[in-house]
Amino acid sequence: MSFRTTTAYVEDVSPGSGALPPRAWYASSDAKSLSLNGSWRFRLSATADAEDDSFAAEGYDAGDWAEVTVPGHWVLQGHGSPVYTNHLYPFPVDPPRVPTENPTGDHLRVFDLPADWPADGGAGLRFDGVESCARIWLNGTELGEFKGSRLPHEFAVGHLLKPAGNVLAVRVHQWSAGSYLEDQDQWWLPGIFRDVTLLHRPADSVRDFFVHASYDHVSGTGTLRVDSEVPGRVTVPDLGVDVATGEPVTVPVEPWTAETPRLYDGVLATGGERVPLRIGFRTVALSDGLIKVNGRPVLFRGVNRHEWHPERGRALDLATMREDVLLMKRHNINAVRTSHYPPHPAFLDLCDEYGLWVIDECDLETHGFTEQGWRDNPVDDDRWTPALLDRAARMVERDKNHPSVVIWSLGNEAGTGRGLTAMAEWIHGRDTSRLVHYEGDAGCRDTDVYSRMYADHAEVERIGRGLDGGPRRRRELPFILCEYAHAMGNGPGGLADYQRLFEVHDRLQGGFVWEWIDHGIAHPELGFAYGGDFGEELHDGNFVCDGLLFPDRQPSPGLVEYQKVIEPVAITADGTDGAAGTVRITNGYDFADLSALAFSWSYEVEGETVDRGTLSVPALAPGESAEVKLPAVPAGAPAGEAHWTVRAVLASDTPWAPKDHVVAWGQLPVSARRVPYVAATTRPAPGDGDGDGEITLGPGVFDARTGAPRTIGGVPVTGLRLDVWRATTDNDDGAAWQSDLRYGLLWRTLGLHRMRHRLDAVEVGEDALTVRTRVAPAARELGLSTVYRWTSDGDRLRLTVSTAPDGDWTVPLPRLGIRFGLAAADAVRWYGGGPGEAYPDTRSASRIARWQSTVDGMQTPYVRPQENGARADVRWAELGGLRIEGDPAFFLTARRWTTEHLDAAAHRTDLVPGDTVWVNLDHAQHGIGSQSCGPAPLPRYHLRAEPAEFSFVFSTTKSVSSTPLQNLSS
Ligand code: GAL
Repeated sequence: MSFRTTTAYVEDVSPGSGALPPRAWYASSDAKSLSLNGSWRFRLSATADAEDDSFAAEGYDAGDWAEVTVPGHWVLQGHGSPVYTNHLYPFPVDPPRVPTENPTGDHLRVFDLPADWPADGGAGLRFDGVESCARIWLNGTELGEFKGSRLPHEFAVGHLLKPAGNVLAVRVHQWSAGSYLEDQDQWWLPGIFRDVTLLHRPADSVRDFFVHASYDHVSGTGTLRVDSEVPGRVTVPDLGVDVATGEPVTVPVEPWTAETPRLYDGVLATGGERVPLRIGFRTVALSDGLIKVNGRPVLFRGVNRHEWHPERGRALDLATMREDVLLMKRHNINAVRTSHYPPHPAFLDLCDEYGLWVIDECDLETHGFTEQGWRDNPVDDDRWTPALLDRAARMVERDKNHPSVVIWSLGNEAGTGRGLTAMAEWIHGRDTSRLVHYEGDAGCRDTDVYSRMYADHAEVERIGRGLDGGPRRRRELPFILCEYAHAMGNGPGGLADYQRLFEVHDRLQGGFVWEWIDHGIAHPELGFAYGGDFGEELHDGNFVCDGLLFPDRQPSPGLVEYQKVIEPVAITADGTDGAAGTVRITNGYDFADLSALAFSWSYEVEGETVDRGTLSVPALAPGESAEVKLPAVPAGAPAGEAHWTVRAVLASDTPWAPKDHVVAWGQLPVSARRVPYVAATTRPAPGDGDGDGEITLGPGVFDARTGAPRTIGGVPVTGLRLDVWRATTDNDDGAAWQSDLRYGLLWRTLGLHRMRHRLDAVEVGEDALTVRTRVAPAARELGLSTVYRWTSDGDRLRLTVSTAPDGDWTVPLPRLGIRFGLAAADAVRWYGGGPGEAYPDTRSASRIARWQSTVDGMQTPYVRPQENGARADVRWAELGGLRIEGDPAFFLTARRWTTEHLDAAAHRTDLVPGDTVWVNLDHAQHGIGSQSCGPAPLPRYHLRAEPAEFSFVFSTTKSVSSTPLQNLSS
């Protein structure tokens, strides 16, 4: 026996052999099933041929083998290690050949049939997902082998089963010909990572079936027809339906939409099995150049979801899947693209149940061929077409009965070619009730939607206006951004600007943020590991951490921003301000009226709620708006800056969030803030005569030589000076191919991270202490002339900073403000934007109120540390015994490490608190953008080097207690 004959299938382009034809997936029926999840015996070999296959024989003694948990990836269970690449194949590109070093996991599971396992009928053995290739034996008989990692494969095994001591043997290879088709940007994680189930198949049991449930919005009726391979009856008690399979029936129904996910429970009964059905009536169509569901255009507020768990990788349990769905619903997300493979099938049940539009994407990506100009791309090579068609069929057949799935996607980043066309033709022929998507074909030859990724705002606007040109077919299609707003690290910026475009131009039917969750791997020393942390020779670093959720599923500020930007109700002042006494409410849902929401108002002065009440808002239909009268300003409200805050909350509990969950809010300014005024009545004076070189000015004591403050009201202050540097974000650093947008590199080249501060003069005047400096990097002629002017009224100290650029500044500044150290600070209180971080182009969710947190609580735990945690629009803040008022409002950042430490850190665990709390008070910050893959901040968010002046007023405060983050005004 030569090894080429036993392992040849690994490098065979064919999809496999021995498996049953694909069919609809369902979780439960009255037929028995036996889960084979759990602990399996496991042996890892370095190569595909290293061990013979005698382990598959009955009686084999695997007593000295290790154990792994199925579902799972062996590389996350102590055997070998994960590898992360974005698009590079981590092996030589020589399709369909794979390396000799091909980690191979032999899995063994011995099982008995339950005592009540029926003696009659057959049995199916179903694998829901194995990466990348498996060969299966039961009781010593080979069943076959398959590829297609995230697709189900089922084998007929009834004839081989025995009551006890069944031996199931599975040999899994990390690399196979299939790997060439699975070059998605993610960790390479071999293993049996989805369920393994033995299904009893009684005689005449249900095989494949297709639920056709359409909705006619004109008549308000649904038409149901269940086509079944094995004839039977279909009953839907709530609809009084009892028909034979294949027979259509039309009845009045409530339609299914993502906003109103009405499902009808039914049963498909054949002679041998009863399968529960959850039927959603809806019709998806391309009409008037738009994607319409039930006759109305939809706007996707979507995310790209990879399956991810920081300990279990892509082996997700139901609780995690449900958590994803609940988090999405609570954050106003209404759509998911299952990037870049069909998810665990149970996820789609949840999408049906809770209501999410789904683009179901096939397990196909050949991105690595871009390195060779797409030469030899499998999708344009007929030898591979059967494998591509197999993948398309396994997805469509498995998932076709989900109302949530409205669009099939052929795959991702696979170039173009005949194989893709064949897939599209097959899908269009098999399922006329859905549309077909694929981003990689600019001509849209095979697709029903024009889809792009990371197009910038200007281009999206052109497309919205129909000015984008291109082939005729494409010009007639609706547009979506299947990926945008790259959520890597701090960001994404610019979401609100995209959303405005989507809302204005009908052709723009929304987008899907890239991506849902960071794929960080929980690591004992590093916090969360990313590419390169396992010693991979090729890797793409933390590009794998680009989600709206941190790996532990804590929402990042990006998700909170997205939630606000896509809220389905707009609460606005409509051009005027709250002083006009009305608020405009617009229903942005596509289907639902506002009857599920309750509205409330609160009136806040200086961030403190003075009064609150309910607001009566009509149950506006989708798209409608109304001008709603606000109450009179509460009698006796104190003077000061005032706001109305209006909220739309759930009027009652829903399956995804409790009553009072905030769906949307808006804040309307009523009266402007009074900026702090400090009369310059105090003269700077020499220190207390001890000759140690001090100057006093009101509560401030300064170093006479440098003019820098030493204490303010007795609070020691160190290193106060102009600061323009921030620890570059992933977006600042930009993607490798975005050479002109790599601000981090430009800034470092200029030396903005190592500015020198030259002292030109310390001037003690009549009413001010003035310090003149020039702040500039070594080796460059440009700089910032900077003047610090200190005045005081005796109690308070006012610092006015004036900067003016010298020389030819062609790049924006990272930040502009001051920084200083405080010896001790824990609790932080502020009046301004919160509760979370906000930057110029990520500030939609920042609400003006009084907030309280701690220095530690103000840090945003990006997996790769970077600039974070700024609170925007801060009017005043109190920390470490100081009270700071801004004129104008400022960005506040406080941390237990310096910007330089933050900049140097690669993982969270590199950040070690020091004795000093470093505070940044920024007049301005450069925008965030999303150029870690997408466009840079729009020009209006650039921080240009221009003359600027800003002030802070310092006084002391009694110390505040350390309490967790809360909104003091709510
Ligand atoms: C896209 C790709 C995604 C991901 C993203 C960057 O090109 O489709 O899989 O790689 O870029 O994070």
